[in-house]
Amino acid sequence: MTRAAVVAGVGSALPPVPVTNAELVAALDTSDEWIRTRTGIRQRYFAPDSMATSDLAAGAGAKALKSAGGRAVDTLVVATTTPDRPCPATAPTVAAKLGLGSVAAYDVAAVCSGFVYALATAAGLIALGASEGALVIGAETFSRILDPADRSTAVIFGDGAGALVLRPGTEGEAGALGPFDLGSDGEGLELITVPAGGSERRPHAPAAADHYFRMQGKQVFRLAVQRMSASARTVLDRAGWRVADVDRLVSHQANHRITARLADELGLPQERCAGNIAEVGNTAAASIPLALDHAHAEGTLRPGARLLLTAFGGGLTWGATALTWPALDRD
Ligand code: ACO
Repeated sequence: MTRAAVVAGVGSALPPVPVTNAELVAALDTSDEWIRTRTGIRQRYFAPDSMATSDLAAGAGAKALKSAGGRAVDTLVVATTTPDRPCPATAPTVAAKLGLGSVAAYDVAAVCSGFVYALATAAGLIALGASEGALVIGAETFSRILDPADRSTAVIFGDGAGALVLRPGTEGEAGALGPFDLGSDGEGLELITVPAGGSERRPHAPAAADHYFRMQGKQVFRLAVQRMSASARTVLDRAGWRVADVDRLVSHQANHRITARLADELGLPQERCAGNIAEVGNTAAASIPLALDHAHAEGTLRPGARLLLTAFGGGLTWGATALTWPALDRD
């Protein structure tokens, strides 16, 4: 029997107060109708100044560990675009906030694909026998890098965190992760970027605006559909599943039109798409685990459901994986 990483717990966390479209409309040249029809978003959450990415990550992580029956983990991976600080990684801070002791702790940076990349690394460690349990968290305070005057991004992104606990098990059992497909195209660097704050520019050189997130939405839209559908097909092939076998597509929640286009491209009925973009917006690396936790809490992910996860983000990066949802307790 082949050793594999198996999902043992799920959890999520959001800042306390939602921000409605109406609140953004007051300060931007946009409308509730444009935001709802072009993106599917009704509200999102912005963290208060007192709340960092590590706080949301710890909130989601604590719930996932509880859902896993308090199982011990020796590895913590945080996928994020908005770490607490450029140095060090956020994961050790999260481990300390959770009281996890001296676990291995590291960040994965692949923007909106970050959670799928993080899952792949943790699943790999477990499959190798290098870990006996991992907490994998996607967490963002994207509001910190949004340009409040840029209507093409300020209305889309939100803050939040989601997490899965992985335990060792065997390939083919309910909850076992994989196969995976991961990819990148660095030629697309400028399509999704925060230009300043890294080694490319000296700290005194950039104007404040260069610390804000920028996205070429139209090009990203087309590439997101192409890359997520191709990656999803690769994983289906590797898993030996047909499209008709997929009970739930849990794709990166970037835009409800992207999800609809992706389902069409794959030949999957729209009602098989799980999504919470209306309530939380695009939460980047937190998007897939937040969608999983919300669907689990609502009872729309039944044990035994075959899930296809796929994501696309800055880098450019993309990835996909598949699993059969396990029986997990619900709060
Ligand atoms: N309110 C009103 N009008 C707006 C707004 C707004 N908030 N934002 C843009 N517009 C305008 C544009 O200025 C443009 O006006 P113009 O025609 O006069 O120039 C018009 O609406 C259409 O703009 P488009 O960019 O073509 O709008 P589109 O329908 O493509 O929607 C959006 C924009 C929502 C950004 C979409 O392109 C999208 O979702 N892109 C993909 C996002 C994505 O997949 N991200 C994933 C990765 S993100 C990551 O990795 C962090």
